Amino acid sequence: MSAVPTIDLNDGHTIPQLGFGVFQIDPEDTVGAVGRALEVGYRHVDTAQMYGNEKEVGEAVRASGLDRADVFVTSKLNNGVHRPDDARRAFDGTLSELGFDYVDLFLIHWPLPTLYDGDFVSTWTTLAELHRDGRARSIGVSNFHVDHLQRLADETGVVPAVNQFERHPYLLNDEVHAYGQAHGIATEAWSPIAQGDVLDDPVVTGIAERLGRSAAQVVLRWHIQRGDIVFPKSTTPERIEENFALFDFELEGGDLEEIDGLDRGEAGRTGPNPDTFDHIPD
Ligand SMILES: NC(=O)c1ccc[n+]([C@@H]2O[C@H](COP(=O)([O-])OP(=O)(O)OC[C@H]3O[C@@H](n4cnc5c(N)ncnc54)[C@H](OP(=O)(O)O)[C@@H]3O)[C@@H](O)[C@H]2O)c1
Repeated sequence: MSAVPTIDLNDGHTIPQLGFGVFQIDPEDTVGAVGRALEVGYRHVDTAQMYGNEKEVGEAVRASGLDRADVFVTSKLNNGVHRPDDARRAFDGTLSELGFDYVDLFLIHWPLPTLYDGDFVSTWTTLAELHRDGRARSIGVSNFHVDHLQRLADETGVVPAVNQFERHPYLLNDEVHAYGQAHGIATEAWSPIAQGDVLDDPVVTGIAERLGRSAAQVVLRWHIQRGDIVFPKSTTPERIEENFALFDFELEGGDLEEIDGLDRGEAGRTGPNPDTFDHIPD
């Protein structure tokens, strides 16, 4: 199987285009799942303070015997700690949970425009400090809409390396995607298979049958050919392997367009809308 491609980020670093997501993996299952993923060949893990499993991600990386430098690890700032001093402390907490002296990528998890007097800019400036001191090799955002991204550009001039947002065949989120492409912000597509919802779609299953691949592989391959970074989550060993086997086949242009045509806009959203989401976990 050919190697996972890398994507160039706007700060000179690179990121493996395919990784492993650990949202909703219980801490007690995380070492096993991440360990399996690293054995299969994944070299990129996406966690978050909110997921409660950073410690186990760090343990799995150490247990793998791989060099720290060979695994790209992302974490994200939790919603209750956006104020600069809180964010600095929380970032220290991430490094101590992971047992690392740096993360490859650190993101603001949600913009929370209805909280903190709408101030996500000072939070972003704090991430820029962490980037300057080298403990966050790259910094970015998650769930930022165009107006949120534009404010960061206007008020700080620091462009995020990535924006991680919900994107799959039922929610293309094309406006956000196009803004990223125009401004050098790489797209990370979360819930790339819409947590399984797109796998029974006749367009997807039709292509899968024709190519002799699984529905998940077809959708993940569509992301890869569209240039997105993806990190499907699974705790099922066979699926962890299946989701990695994306580089020995290709979709045709017509297949890509047919999948694009499944977009349902807002109706296709499975998670919260970033304009109104204001949840602060306990
Ligand atoms: N920034 C954000 O706000 C945000 C939000 C959501 C997600 N994320 C990130 O994106 C990652 C992926 O998103 P996600 O976990 O929400 O959803 P996802 O990867 O689209 O889907 C995961 C679900 O699909 C199942 N699945 C995985 N591979 C499969 C396959 N080959 N065939 C059939 N079913 C399969 C999994 O089941 P099993 O585990 O039972 O196999 C699980 O129920 C997360 O883990 C997280 O890192 C970020």
